[in-house]
Amino acid sequence: MSRPVAAPPGLQVVWTRAELAAVRAGWSGSVAVVMTMGALHDGHAALLRAAAHRADHVIVTVFVNPLQFGPTEDFDRYPRTIDDDLEICRQAGVGAVFAPSRAEIYPDGEPMVRLDPGPLGGILEGASRPGFFHGVLTVVLKLLQITRPDLAFFGEKDYQQLTLVRRMVRDLDLPVEIVGVPTVREPDGLARSSRNRYLSAPQRQVALGLSAALRAGAAHASGGGAFDEVLSAARLAFDRAAGGDAELDYLVLTDPQLGPPVAGAGRLLIAARVGGTRLIDNMPVELTGSRAEGP
Ligand code: PAF
Repeated sequence: MSRPVAAPPGLQVVWTRAELAAVRAGWSGSVAVVMTMGALHDGHAALLRAAAHRADHVIVTVFVNPLQFGPTEDFDRYPRTIDDDLEICRQAGVGAVFAPSRAEIYPDGEPMVRLDPGPLGGILEGASRPGFFHGVLTVVLKLLQITRPDLAFFGEKDYQQLTLVRRMVRDLDLPVEIVGVPTVREPDGLARSSRNRYLSAPQRQVALGLSAALRAGAAHASGGGAFDEVLSAARLAFDRAAGGDAELDYLVLTDPQLGPPVAGAGRLLIAARVGGTRLIDNMPVELTGSRAEGP
């Protein structure tokens, strides 16, 4: 992580666990953490504001975690924008930014012991990105240990990640409350993501296929559509909007915990590759009426 030109006034920027512990020792009241890989955008700003609303102090972690990138993924080109990130943090009322180096987080190199995400970690994102959730949960657990928050805020945009973090906290009795924050979208529906900046203007149009699919599926669900009708409507909307220029990875309907869908609350999730960029999105759906049956 490159160091900022200058930390904005009023914001404490720390690089080591010891510095963070010293900042933390001077605080009383509740502490929230928002974990990020930097390249902050409006979606992160919503997380920061939600955290500042609930807690007396907010810590933002900025760490591009090598453990969650596959060998052919974008670790090296992942956007690093620390000066802009700090300004967004300052505006949202964040107390401290912890931006550790790789050696600070993994002093012995890659950890020998990693969190096993279990069966939920092998589906959807986990099926396409082997080892991804091992890396995510390992660093999330480490950052929880280092920051010792009362609350931790995660975006619903990464819904499988949020679900797995909640599950880890419950299964391992971690003393923290996990708060999910709804996805922030561009006016045309595109979910905000640090990876949107990889998209050219035509690719950005194609990328609208993801949110179009989710909106169509959600509308069919609330109109009483059955499981397969919801998915067909979503698929049709995706094909129309993406025009064959995106490669669909998955489009699935699940219950809110990513299990098989039943009548009532559900989740529609999609992933597709647009050019070299893999995009994900999801939306809550309400499966209404007797026609809302699973497969
Ligand atoms: O969602 C992210 O940005 C990352 O997966 C997280 C939670 C910061 C862990 O590296």
